[in-house]
Amino acid sequence: MKLIFERSQAGRRGSAIPNAGLPVPEVPEELRRRKPPRLPEVAEPEIVRHFTALADRTFGVDTGFYPLGSCTMKHNPRVNERVVSLPGFRDLHPLQEEEGAQGALELMWRLQEILAEVCGLDAVSLQPAAGSQGELTGLMLMRAYFADRGEADQRRTVITADTAHGTNPASVTMAGFNLQKVETDARGNLDLDDLRAKVGEETAGLMLTNPSTLGLFDEHIEEVAAIFHDAGALLYYDGANLNAVCGISRPGDMGFDIVHINLHKTFSQPHGGGGPGGGPIVVRDLLEPFLPVPAVVRKDDDFALDYDRPKSIGKVRGYTGPFGVFVRSYAFIRAYGPALRLMSEAAVLNANYMLARLRDAYELPFDRLCMHEFVLSARNLKREHGITALDVAKRLMDFGFHPPTIYFPLIVAEALMIEPTETEPKETLDAFCDAMLEIAREARDDASVLKEAPHSRPVRRLDEVKAAKRAIVRYRFGDHPDLAGEPSKGEAVEVQKGA
Ligand SMILES: Cc1ncc(COP(=O)(O)O)c(C=O)c1O
Repeated sequence: MKLIFERSQAGRRGSAIPNAGLPVPEVPEELRRRKPPRLPEVAEPEIVRHFTALADRTFGVDTGFYPLGSCTMKHNPRVNERVVSLPGFRDLHPLQEEEGAQGALELMWRLQEILAEVCGLDAVSLQPAAGSQGELTGLMLMRAYFADRGEADQRRTVITADTAHGTNPASVTMAGFNLQKVETDARGNLDLDDLRAKVGEETAGLMLTNPSTLGLFDEHIEEVAAIFHDAGALLYYDGANLNAVCGISRPGDMGFDIVHINLHKTFSQPHGGGGPGGGPIVVRDLLEPFLPVPAVVRKDDDFALDYDRPKSIGKVRGYTGPFGVFVRSYAFIRAYGPALRLMSEAAVLNANYMLARLRDAYELPFDRLCMHEFVLSARNLKREHGITALDVAKRLMDFGFHPPTIYFPLIVAEALMIEPTETEPKETLDAFCDAMLEIAREARDDASVLKEAPHSRPVRRLDEVKAAKRAIVRYRFGDHPDLAGEPSKGEAVEVQKGA
């Protein structure tokens, strides 16, 4: 497919606007262009075709099944787009004074109340714009809490699981803590012996996803919480997998003190391609004084922004957070009402249905009922036929599916992490399982068809490391460096996708 610049023909225009004879403003000499900008010159029908062709090549949850484990790619109800477009929400300026923004503040306050209830905790800040920013904010709260108790120099270590998402260790390091990893036991839980050996007076806290990135609920979570609390440490809940437990079990009841919620996953904010997202944090009352300012508060029948929090860690994002995300999530949650647990129950049921259909064709590293997602391994296909998780993922594209997350969590060789979500019908789950079973059969009978997949996409196998590290994002007008022969640092690397 040609680039828009390669379609350019000198003198072509997208549209013709009559010259209204308006005065030409005086631009100071030193600010004037020496040459006209080198914009593509393309007629309107060609522009439309160009961008439509590009859009046709994009795969999203609106075009097909997208079981990208840990990313919760669920359907985003369109009514939420109507609601967020209501002029009172859409046209509100972030600096509007409180009297003129009561509806927006009330919505934020109500969303806070709901999130606190869902988590079984006490106070909320909606500010962080992503799960990862929620993580950093939560760890900054942890630091502020221990500093306030005079334990900042002592409590230097945060423990994460060896199944943790990459953002967990990154956030720990960014927040200035030392990182320690705890191992997973044979049933997919945190290894309690390893944990006990690592928790001590220097421990600030634990960071854990529950259910974990293996799709397994930790069977000893209360014991884990006791180990940390007995040592005077705190527990942080990475809420990326909250879709499994809403209305069923609450992080606060499990013993967690700080939670982030990925609104763009559990509460249906269209995501992918970098945003927009929402990563509110929810905390136990002992951490409330440290939350970012401003806090959205209720004063009798009015709603206000409270900056008077002397122990606050300060602001972590401009204004009060990603407001459009709040409106969509609020609308989504209110549409369920008290039946919110149906969402999680259906997500868990769908995942277990698929697991039951696929468990004989692929290896199951931890043989347990799963939560809202599950992790299989293509280890058996690799051992017997030389077929890897990457080959399976690429072949799935030929069947019209987005691949699952692969090579994550890192402790499972040839991992395939599948998350169907609650919004997919049984026919779609069956069609995906049929494709996975067919791929396992192909591995046995016709492995070359897998090695060369995908066969039906505009591009085949890419050097994904080079594509990420040497992305060319601007047109160079005839100056096209030939990168073909350039060595790629990651030639032997199978790149982790998703999560
Ligand atoms: C388990 C887990 N933790 C944290 C994150 C980070 O969340 P975000 O992408 O919103 O920054 C993700 C993201 O996919 C995740 O899967």
